[in-house]
Amino acid sequence: MTACLDIQNLTVEFPGRRRRSPVKALSSLSLTLERGESLSVIGESGSGKTTLMRTVLGHVKPSTGSVKLFGTDMGVASPEAVTALRRRCAMVSQDPYGSLPPTLTVLEAVMEPRLIVRGRDSRREAERRARELLEEVGLGDEDIVRSRVRLSLSGGQRQRVAIARALILDPELMLCDEPTSMQDASTRGEIIEILARRQRAGMSLIFVTHDLFLARKAAPRGIVLHRGVIVEEGPCRDILENPKDDYTKALVEALPRLAQVRDGRKADKKKRKKRAENVEGQT
Ligand SMILES: Nc1ncnc2c1ncn2[C@@H]1O[C@H](COP(=O)(O)OP(=O)(O)OP(=O)(O)O)[C@@H](O)[C@H]1O
Ligand SMILES: [Mg+2]
Repeated sequence: MTACLDIQNLTVEFPGRRRRSPVKALSSLSLTLERGESLSVIGESGSGKTTLMRTVLGHVKPSTGSVKLFGTDMGVASPEAVTALRRRCAMVSQDPYGSLPPTLTVLEAVMEPRLIVRGRDSRREAERRARELLEEVGLGDEDIVRSRVRLSLSGGQRQRVAIARALILDPELMLCDEPTSMQDASTRGEIIEILARRQRAGMSLIFVTHDLFLARKAAPRGIVLHRGVIVEEGPCRDILENPKDDYTKALVEALPRLAQVRDGRKADKKKRKKRAENVEGQT
C-alpha cells in the first residue's frame, strides 16, 4: 500500500518583504508517514511547522522537491484532484479565531464541512454526528450547541469546536496545528485520547506542538524542526530522554529547569504551610 504521505527533499522559500532576502521556511526536508501512523512535529516559533502543514495540503507550493499525498504528487495534480485529496484530510488550524465561521451556531459550524462534502440531503445525519462529536469534545451542553461561535466561546472552546469540525469528515489524515494550546491540562489529555481512538481505527495523524511532553503523548514518533531543517527524528521517548542534536538538547534541558522551578515553588509552599502550622500550634 502507498504511504499516506511521502515528502522528498522539500524546500519552501517565501519572497522577502520590502526587498529583504527570501525566507527559507523549509529546507531539504524528507519524511514519510504510513497509513494509520502518527507523527509529532516539534519546534519553536518560526521553525516551519505551519508551513509544512500547509504544503502537505497544497496551499503552499514547494520551491523544490515533492509532496505525495496518498500516492499523488500535489505539485502536478489537477485542481480537481487536489480538492479530492484534501477532502480525505482535515486540518485543525492553530488560530481558532480565524478558522471558524463566526456567524454560525456551534452546531452549524461542526455540521458545515459534512454538508459541503456530502450534500444537503445528509442534514439529519450531519446533525446527529455533530452532536455526538460536540459531546465527545465536552461541548454537548445545549446552550453551547445553540450559541453563535462569534458571541460566546473562549479560545479553548473554539479549538474544541475546530477539532469536532475536523473529525466530522472522518479524515484519513488529520493535521493538528497546536490544537490544544489553549486547553487546561485535563482537557488536553482528553483531546489526545480522542485522537488516539481515531488512530486505533486507522487514521493517520500529524500533531504539531512546541511542547515535548505533549509530543510524546500524541505520537510515538517525532521530528524536531529548527529553522526549517529536521535536526532530529525518531521515537519521541528517545528525543526526550536521549537527544542527539544540540538544539534538541537545549529544548530538553529547558524542561527540567521549568520542572525544578515548579517543584521549588511547591517545596516553598509546603515549608510555609508547615511554619504556619507550627506558629498556630504555639499560640
Ligand atoms: N506567507 C508567508 N510569507 C512570507 N514568509 C512566511 C509566510 N509564512 C511563513 N513565513 C515565514 O516562514 C517561517 C516559518 O513560519 P511558520 O509559520 O511555518 O512557523 P511555525 O513553526 O508554524 O511558527 P509558530 O510556532 O509561531 O506557529 C517564518 O520565518 C515565517 O515568517
Ligand atoms: Mg505555526
